[in-house]
Amino acid sequence: MEAIVFEEFGGPEVLRLAEAEEPHAGPGQVRVKVKAAGVNPVDYKIRSGWMGEFFPTVFPAVPGLEFAGIVDEVGEGVRGAAVGDEVVGWSVTGSYARYALSESFVLKPAGLDWAEAAGLPVVTETAQRVLDLLGVRSGETLLLHGAAGAVGTAAVQLAVAAGATVIGTASAANHDYLRELGATPVAYGDGLVERVRAAAPQGVDAVFDAAGKGALPASIELRGGTTDRIITIADPEAAAHGVPFSAAGTEPPEIAFAGHVLLAAEGRLRMPVVERFPLEEAAKAQVVSEAGHAPGKLVVIPPGA
Ligand SMILES: NC(=O)c1ccc[n+]([C@@H]2O[C@H](COP(=O)([O-])OP(=O)(O)OC[C@H]3O[C@@H](n4cnc5c(N)ncnc54)[C@H](OP(=O)(O)O)[C@@H]3O)[C@@H](O)[C@H]2O)c1
Repeated sequence: MEAIVFEEFGGPEVLRLAEAEEPHAGPGQVRVKVKAAGVNPVDYKIRSGWMGEFFPTVFPAVPGLEFAGIVDEVGEGVRGAAVGDEVVGWSVTGSYARYALSESFVLKPAGLDWAEAAGLPVVTETAQRVLDLLGVRSGETLLLHGAAGAVGTAAVQLAVAAGATVIGTASAANHDYLRELGATPVAYGDGLVERVRAAAPQGVDAVFDAAGKGALPASIELRGGTTDRIITIADPEAAAHGVPFSAAGTEPPEIAFAGHVLLAAEGRLRMPVVERFPLEEAAKAQVVSEAGHAPGKLVVIPPGA
C-alpha cells in the first residue's frame, strides 16, 4: 500500500512516499481504509526524535495518530464494528497511509466531513482532559495560551460552553477568529501580564498553556505567584517552573472524543480544516504544522480517498 514512511529521525526530508506492507486486523483491531489523516505538531516532534518517552518509534515508521475512514477488516473479538462502517479514531500503525489499524474508534456521523472528522480525536481529547484537570467551572476566567491553534480552538469552545470567560492569546491576525469562538483575544509577547490584567480585572482562575512558548512565568505572576491551576501541554520548561505537563490521558481515548464527534456533527463544535494535502505532500504538511500558526487543522488525504 502507499504510505509515508521514515526510517531515521530528522527533518521533513526523512519522510518519503513508499510501498509499505499492508497491515491486517489482529485481535481487538479494525483495519480502516483511510479517507483523511489529521496532522498534529506531535507528528513532526516524533519524526524529529523528541518524543521517545511518550511515543517509542520502531522503524520503518508511518506518521499520524488519527484518521477518519471506512472499516474493511474486523479482527477477532471486536464488537460494534462491521465492514463498511464509517469511523473516526486513533491509529496504532500510523494514519498517513492507505490503510491503518485501530483499537480506539467511534462511528462517524453521516453529516460530518471526512477531513473535519479526522482532525477531532487528538485535539478534543487534549482540550477536554486539560479543562477537566484544571477544574474550569462556570463563572470562572480561563487564560488560554495558543487559543487560535487546533487544541486552543477546541478548548475555547468547550470552556465557553461550560460557562467560563476565556482570555485567549494569539497573534493579531487571529483576534477576530477568537472573538467568533467566544473568547477575548489578547496579543502574546512583551507586556502580556498588563494586557491580561486589563482584559480580566477580576483575575485569572486557571491557565491552560496550549502554546508552549515561554508564557509560564507570566502565567504564575497572573495567578498571584502560585503554580496552582496552571497546566501546560507543550512547554519543555514546565518542570523548571514547577508547572505540571499533561500528556495523553489514561482512559480509553474513544471515550474521550465520542461526545465531541457528535457535537461537531451537530455544528456545536467547530474545527476548521485550514489545508488539505495529498499524501505525497505530507512533508509539506508537517513543515506548515511546525511553523505553528495554522488557525485550525491540517489533514493529509490518500490518493483516491
Ligand atoms: N501534551 C499533549 O497531550 C498534547 C496534545 C496535543 C498537542 N500538544 C501540543 O500543543 C501544542 C499546540 O498544538 P496544536 O495542535 O494546537 O498546534 P497548532 O494548531 O499549530 O497551534 C499552535 C498555535 O500556537 C500559537 N502561537 C504561536 N506562537 C505563540 C506564542 N508565542 N504565544 C502564544 N501562542 C502562540 C499560534 O497562534 P498564532 O498563529 O496566532 O501565532 C497557533 O495558533 C503543540 O506544541 C502540540 O505538540 C500536546
